[in-house]
Amino acid sequence: DDQELLEHFERTVQRDQRIEPRDWMPDGYRKTLIRQIAQHAHSEIIGMQPEGAWITRAPSLRRKAILLAKVQDEAGHGLYLYAATETLGVDRAELTENLIEGRQKYSSIFNYPTPSFADVGVIGWLVDGAAICNQVPLCRTSYGPYARAMIRVCKEESFHQRQGYELLMTMMRGSSEQRDMVQDAVNRWWWPSLMMFGPPDGDSPNTARSMAWRIKRHTNDELRQKFVDMTVPQAEKLGVTLPDPELRWNAEREHYDFGEPDWAELKRVISGGGECNAERVEHRRRAHEDGAWVREAAVAHAARRS
Ligand code: 3HC
Repeated sequence: DDQELLEHFERTVQRDQRIEPRDWMPDGYRKTLIRQIAQHAHSEIIGMQPEGAWITRAPSLRRKAILLAKVQDEAGHGLYLYAATETLGVDRAELTENLIEGRQKYSSIFNYPTPSFADVGVIGWLVDGAAICNQVPLCRTSYGPYARAMIRVCKEESFHQRQGYELLMTMMRGSSEQRDMVQDAVNRWWWPSLMMFGPPDGDSPNTARSMAWRIKRHTNDELRQKFVDMTVPQAEKLGVTLPDPELRWNAEREHYDFGEPDWAELKRVISGGGECNAERVEHRRRAHEDGAWVREAAVAHAARRS
């Protein structure tokens, strides 16, 4: 009966074993997984836009080839994650509608503009760096298909971060204009990168539940702290200043103390008030409509073959 099924589910999760698509699971577990994995997928797909804008304007063939590979990877990450979401009984066509109609979210970070090529490097270094901090623990998430998708994503994500950092190292060894471009991009992306980890734990309605179900293995604030601790030494090596006057090493805590992100900005960007929200969703809607004929042809072809 349901009680036994629930106890079996909870024992499986407590033993750090995987819940698979055909296993019994509480409705709330299924619902919050559809919510998180779908929005993770939407983030990957929308995330192609800010950098994609630089593919035709990359300063060299090498930079163009690297950027092309990275943007292509993001598309693939989105497709793995839609496939993982579909194992929970929803269809990606419905998920795309949810995204376009604003019923589901994507990461706030992709609503910021990319005015200079240094943004491509800073996105690789900070945004993909934050994504790595967030996604490595998700390789141990309790839902099997999500964990397995994350293992493959994390391998590609480390290339994304390294190429960004190398790009910035090159620019920092260039002219003073290039160094200024890098510092300007760091100033614009630092705080939004910290907001990728979500609101503070005390203001996070999903964290407690997600931790109990071992969907999340660390809280928002724990991962944000890990990201800051990892990134400050990299900024020093790069020779850039992080735009936070309160940033300093705390020997007692053995962590960096840092200032409070602007949570009102996060709320505003999440609810559609960021600089690029309308443009990002409109671009996705247009791509979806332009691709309708391909989907119709695929359905017609499959029907003729069956
Ligand atoms: N942008 C947009 N929405 C956000 C957000 C952000 N930065 N931070 C939080 N939210 C939303 C949450 O989705 C939730 O809304 P919902 O209930 O309608 O889904 C609400 O704000 C409250 O936040 P919670 O902390 O309660 O929500 P979660 O427990 O889901 O935590 C999260 C948010 C940390 C983003 C978590 O969902 C998560 O780890 N998701 C998987 C990773 C992910 O989606 N990363 C997106 C970055 S893009 C990326 O990694 C791709 C790489 O290539 C750059």
